[in-house]
Amino acid sequence: MNLAIIGAQWGDEGKGKIVDLLAPHFDIVTRYQGGHNAGHTVIIRRDGIDHKFVLHLIPSGITHPGKICVVGNGVVVDPRALLAEIDELRGRGIEVNHHNLLASNRAHLILPYHVALDRAIEASRGGNAVGTTMRGIGPAYEDKMARRGLRAGDLTDPGTLAEKLAHNAKQANRLLTMLGGEPIDVRQLVEDGERWCELLAPHIVDTTYFLNRTAREGKAILLEGAQATMLDIDHGTYPFVTSSNSSVGGACTGAGIPPSMIDCTIGVIKAYTTRVGGGPFPTELNDALGEHLRTSGGEYGASTGRPRRTGWFDAVIARYAVMVNGLDALALTKLDVLDELDEIKICVAYRINGKEIDLVPYDANQMASAEPVYETISGWQEKTVGISKFEDLPERAQKYINRLSELSGAPFAFISTGAERNETIIAKDVLSRCGLDLVL
Ligand code: GDP
Ligand code: IMO
Ligand code: MG
Repeated sequence: MNLAIIGAQWGDEGKGKIVDLLAPHFDIVTRYQGGHNAGHTVIIRRDGIDHKFVLHLIPSGITHPGKICVVGNGVVVDPRALLAEIDELRGRGIEVNHHNLLASNRAHLILPYHVALDRAIEASRGGNAVGTTMRGIGPAYEDKMARRGLRAGDLTDPGTLAEKLAHNAKQANRLLTMLGGEPIDVRQLVEDGERWCELLAPHIVDTTYFLNRTAREGKAILLEGAQATMLDIDHGTYPFVTSSNSSVGGACTGAGIPPSMIDCTIGVIKAYTTRVGGGPFPTELNDALGEHLRTSGGEYGASTGRPRRTGWFDAVIARYAVMVNGLDALALTKLDVLDELDEIKICVAYRINGKEIDLVPYDANQMASAEPVYETISGWQEKTVGISKFEDLPERAQKYINRLSELSGAPFAFISTGAERNETIIAKDVLSRCGLDLVL
């Protein structure tokens, strides 16, 4: 049984929590796209204390002993970020070695000039900046598509690496200078490359064969999406998107497994909406209510610390995510954040140029002009934090959830009422219909 977890909004829906919750029931957890622009938070309660881990590049299954974590071919890997993350995890007592962390030799590398280019390109966009995480993601994927990128496999061939690094860095430096950026130190890069070879080569394998072989042997794979459907390079609010396919298609190309091997797809969605960076956001609340959601929800970027933009649940987007990814079910997160509100709105359609539509427009400007059509429900104004049975939720919260499910077109397999593992309502019947008979 192989399951894909996908972000259904603009990221930060709580994918890390859901992956961490499910990881014990799988043998392998694999990332398949994106890079360390992701920030996936996992809270583990041990001895009465909450331990917070924020995973960027390494799959969120890494804290579970005995699980194999894979960084798939579709991921872009910054060797410095990977080494820093390995060090940080080891420093906190998590075992990371070349048995439980494998990286694809086909994964493209993010090199220091990609980061410098990301900054320079963003600066040159002025008011139209995407608001990237400045991690070099876009420029690294550009090199991949232009067929000139370096791949993790190049780190297993120290004999030719120096020449490849120096060649690409010199080309990038020319572009950087044109854009008014500082060229990077080529000698330093070549020196760093040698160190990366030594430290990372043991982890680098052909993960495509590994994943296909182990799946055929009956091992279960959990595919951990990063970013989200609305940040997908093809299906998101282009150009305010990331540079990879963060919807389910990316799971096949980015892990090297066929669609027939993905048995179930679950989308993670917040009980409201957030977005970080630029781009259209029809249900955004630029008022005290938006600030309330940001404060109560702790809506600050897990990677960059930037305040997240906040707004109401958008069912137009939810339906779109269900359609594009063929979601079998949804995991609703952060219900507890709405506890204090006396009124809650749900966007059921958009009004664009006076016309009501219930589709996501292809054009970002049109999307930016969309006025949300709201349905309003009364808030429950009771604490739901930590509730783990649906019937224990206030009746109005149940009504809200049922309405969201109806509007989205998919059932909820999970309802999360807090950041910890046990603060979750699990709909076993829904999971069972997805073929997931888990003892959770
Ligand atoms: P991801 O990128 O999709 O993995 O999400 P992030 O980790 O960036 O952001 C989700 C944040 O919400 C993290 O701080 C989680 O610890 C937290 N979180 C997840 N589920 C819940 C929930 O149900 N309630 C609350 N209050 N926080 C949650
Ligand atoms: P997780 O996996 C939220 C956003 C950036 C920017 C746009 C492009 O934690 O959900 P990039 O650096 O990828 O070129 O930036 O995408 N973005 C995210 N927003 N969560 C993420 O990841 C994100 N990864 C990228 O803010 O708007
Ligand atoms: Mg995140």
